[in-house]
Amino acid sequence: MTAVPAVPVAGTIPAPVLPELAAPSVWPASAVSAPAGDVTVGGVSLAELAERYGTPTYVLDEDEVRARARAWRRALPDADIVYAGKAFLCRAVVDWIEEEGLGLDVCSAGELELAALRGFPADRIVMHGNAKSPQDLRTALRLGVGRIVIDSQCEIARLATQVPGPEAQQVMVRVLPGIEAGGHKKIRTGAEGQKFGLSIAEGDAEDAVARILGQPGLELVGLHCHLGSQVTSPDPYAQAVRRMVAFLARIRDRYAITVPELDLGGGFAVAYRPGDPAPTPAAYGRRITGELLRACAEFDFPVPRLSVEPGRSVMAPAGIALYEVMSVKRCGGEVFVAVDGGMSDNPRPALYGARYTVRMVGRASAAPMRTATVVGRHCEAGDVLAESVELPEDVRPGDVLAVPASGAYHVSMASGYNMTGRPPVVAVSEGRSRLLLRRETFEDHRRRDVGL
Ligand SMILES: Cc1ncc(COP(=O)(O)O)c(C=O)c1O
Repeated sequence: MTAVPAVPVAGTIPAPVLPELAAPSVWPASAVSAPAGDVTVGGVSLAELAERYGTPTYVLDEDEVRARARAWRRALPDADIVYAGKAFLCRAVVDWIEEEGLGLDVCSAGELELAALRGFPADRIVMHGNAKSPQDLRTALRLGVGRIVIDSQCEIARLATQVPGPEAQQVMVRVLPGIEAGGHKKIRTGAEGQKFGLSIAEGDAEDAVARILGQPGLELVGLHCHLGSQVTSPDPYAQAVRRMVAFLARIRDRYAITVPELDLGGGFAVAYRPGDPAPTPAAYGRRITGELLRACAEFDFPVPRLSVEPGRSVMAPAGIALYEVMSVKRCGGEVFVAVDGGMSDNPRPALYGARYTVRMVGRASAAPMRTATVVGRHCEAGDVLAESVELPEDVRPGDVLAVPASGAYHVSMASGYNMTGRPPVVAVSEGRSRLLLRRETFEDHRRRDVGL
């Protein structure tokens, strides 16, 4: 068996990506090509998984998730690594994250309840949300989450009045550092003029700090920022560190308190296509640590306890989506390969123009490659899964297509559009597969439909 060729660049072999995640491969490190055009991941044939679990199906390489979690811990050994559960969460993932010693970032009572169901230590949980509902706050306080991240002025008094006491609830303030970074306008959250965070420049962040300090039920333990997602360089993090440390120093000077923690959020990029820039956790870690020490020395500020919140970086490269081809047709000079999933299991291309690579599995083809567009089955012309990918000319109904780098923000963002049913998630490890999430059925839809 040989390593899976990095598609669509014919003939290239991706370098091993672990332990340092050095080469930005789009496949998990365990992926190898097998006879008859197949690929195995975690020792399990993708073609067999498609056969056994049906399609569409999401495959998750447990060892890849764990290795990536460890790579983050190695990259920042003195920091708290807090996995952003919005990337993908289910009970097994809660366990893996807990066992690997990470914290958990949640942004709803639902994510929190799921973590609690598995006994995830509440003090390692950070709760986010720009519009936390009364239920979110009640659940966070009841379960005793470690940190609640304040994202608006109105949240401060609302939260403070609910704290049962006698202990104060530890909170952070989500600050807008005013930095443009991230792969698409819709996922840039560090800049002014969008819904997240409180602006340093406009004075809202400082106002929030002052209000929190006036609430005995709240203890301000840190500042938080999240620049955006798919941030492909460590430089914006270094910039954020400087601005945040400068702001920490200003708070100390004005309010005579030393806020002890700094959370830089997530956003670390992964490769969706061969050659996409994806710095290693070690590269991000080095730059962040170096800049933190420099900025703290410059502002004469004690080095704060650091946290980061990688979601995509831990989960995306561990997942592979499997689809079956339903039809192939030409239109306007283009070849459209339509599969049995689409924007209901992967809304990313429609939301922000995400691009992928696709590989046929389970049938060897000697046909030349040609450029095609892989589209979904949904009633939207924008239901495109992968534009301009290379597939064999003889691709036909019944073939199985694999889309690597599908572990994050697919199943967690999946919808019930067209009642096709959200796909199952199957974990693979050491030659075995096991179902983590079952396929959603028509019966699930019918049970929710309670009125006539
Ligand atoms: C506050 C916060 N932290 C972490 C993340 C995770 O980002 P990523 O998955 O890009 O690492 C997000 C994503 O939206 C976020 O909003």
